[in-house]
Amino acid sequence: MTDQTVDQKVAIPKLHEVYRERFHIGAAVNPTTLITQKELLSQHFNSVTAENEMKFERIQPEEGRYTFEAADQLVAFAMENNMAVRGHTLVWHNQTPDWVFESHSGGKADRETLLTRMKSHIDEVVGRYKGSIYAWDVVNEAVSDSGEQILRKSKWLDVIGEDFIAKAFEYAHEADPNALLFYNDYNESVPEKREKIYALVKSLIEQRVPIHGVGLQAHWNLLHPALDHIREAIERYASLGMKLHITEMDVSLFAHEDKRTDLTAPTEEMLELQAERYAGFFRLFKEYSDHITSVTFWGAADDYTWLDHFPVRNRKNWPFLFDTQHKPKASYWDVIDAVQS
Ligand code: GLA
Repeated sequence: MTDQTVDQKVAIPKLHEVYRERFHIGAAVNPTTLITQKELLSQHFNSVTAENEMKFERIQPEEGRYTFEAADQLVAFAMENNMAVRGHTLVWHNQTPDWVFESHSGGKADRETLLTRMKSHIDEVVGRYKGSIYAWDVVNEAVSDSGEQILRKSKWLDVIGEDFIAKAFEYAHEADPNALLFYNDYNESVPEKREKIYALVKSLIEQRVPIHGVGLQAHWNLLHPALDHIREAIERYASLGMKLHITEMDVSLFAHEDKRTDLTAPTEEMLELQAERYAGFFRLFKEYSDHITSVTFWGAADDYTWLDHFPVRNRKNWPFLFDTQHKPKASYWDVIDAVQS
């Protein structure tokens, strides 16, 4: 290490310290990034979430066979580094094994069987991490993106009925009465879907379901959503008295329709735009920091993102504040500046 890199390190403020008075700064991690991004994580982040390791298919791949090793390692890493842990996720239509929805005699499981399985899974998982996981995404992505229906089609809905959501929250609350319980979704700032999420959460509150917050996934890009739409979403959810967590933030360099695969590195123009976007987002988060208590990125640095090769194959993406070498990007510096502007 040269003297210059040592100096640079000293001069780079820790993101989580800069935002300490406002909200947690989190990152989604996996067993690989816990090693490859260890230093960056412990330096800039004070919260972690499992990218995949706490999902149903990972934790209970077969009925009654629980596999907690990877999740335990993540929690141990967090404890060693004095970090908070957000749990992700208990009930979701994706990454849930087929056995959950099947009866032992073949065919579909019935409502009582599925509720019993839901309850024992939640008891086991939430119970295990009682005291170390302070917040859970209890239900993920239950709302439909388009059409008249509020809830998307799913096996949970099909077998149990609409109250599968209320049940999941009740079970989670019984398993750990101190955990903060979130409903989490994407396209959360799109007005049409925002109103459906609002209606769902409002009806849960009216039924006295133990829900404490709304998770805004924040898979955003250089153009969408507009800041005004994000502001409206924050205000709408906050008006229900919910805590807000930004749960899966990344800022793709490509618009949804953009399918180009020719870039081997981001252009200067893209990086400038990304920095402007990040500055706008963090100014907004700061403005609403009475409501927003955690901002989690869906990764930590550009060397690893789920957006590499998704949704366009053979295309890398660079959605974070730190580059592939874990060096701060313009976006990082703008986020640091945003705290005082
Ligand atoms: C959704 C889920 C996350 C993750 C991302 C893609 O947003 O909530 O768990 O699977 O998709 O990585």
